[in-house]
Amino acid sequence: MKVLGINGSPRKGWNTQTLVKKALEGAADAGAETELIDLYAQPLKGCLECYACKRKGIKTDGLCAIHDNMRPLLEKAREADVIIVGSPNYFGYPTAMTFAFLERFLFPITSYQVEDGKQVHVLGKRVVPAGVIYTMNADEKYYHLGGYEISMGRVRDTLEYLLGYAEQYNSYMTLQFKDYSVMNANMFNGEARHLRHETQFPVDEQKCYEMGKRLVLKAHEMNVE
Ligand SMILES: Cc1cc2nc3c(=O)[nH]c(=O)nc-3n(C[C@H](O)[C@H](O)[C@H](O)COP(=O)(O)O)c2cc1C
Repeated sequence: MKVLGINGSPRKGWNTQTLVKKALEGAADAGAETELIDLYAQPLKGCLECYACKRKGIKTDGLCAIHDNMRPLLEKAREADVIIVGSPNYFGYPTAMTFAFLERFLFPITSYQVEDGKQVHVLGKRVVPAGVIYTMNADEKYYHLGGYEISMGRVRDTLEYLLGYAEQYNSYMTLQFKDYSVMNANMFNGEARHLRHETQFPVDEQKCYEMGKRLVLKAHEMNVE
């Protein structure tokens, strides 16, 4: 059982990567082989709309046809039994590199073919449980009422539709800076953020750990013939 963790934050060792790592720890404790990918470690391109993955006579087997530096990552994602994608909230959306990855991973397995009145599922009956982990400045209330739930929740919904199962965990009011006093950011209370980081963030870590574990069990359960 292979579990791929994707860190869609440019920052290593910060909120998002920490939570993705925790989810992988949970997956490893459930017996899976895990790997973490930092998307910003290399510049990645999004979908180029070549439509090779939709063309008659070309068999891409659900893989993006572009052979560039994202190819090894896309091959790993295509083989993974569980995928966990973490991203900071940037203006109400996942980051640019997270989207670049999602476009090129998901569009080739999005079928425009209909058989017996139903959209063909490229993965057939295979379910690849997915986890989405978001980190953000916003609090839970703003996430739900400020529109983020709609824009960011779309990713979870799309993963669920294409991969068969998805869940999401949000880490709110994260620590954005080590030292708020040297930043032009007096709308935030640095002390309160540090306190929250010490008290709430460990809870978020535990939740992500449990999610990782649960997704591995789901992959076993949901792929039994
Ligand atoms: C370009 C940019 C845009 C951001 N936009 C938002 C936003 O619209 N809403 C929000 O709640 N947080 C926003 N943030 C804050 C980050 O989502 C938050 O600090 C996150 O936890 C950073 O993740 P990291 O620590 O893993 O890098 C933004 C940060 C950046 C750099």
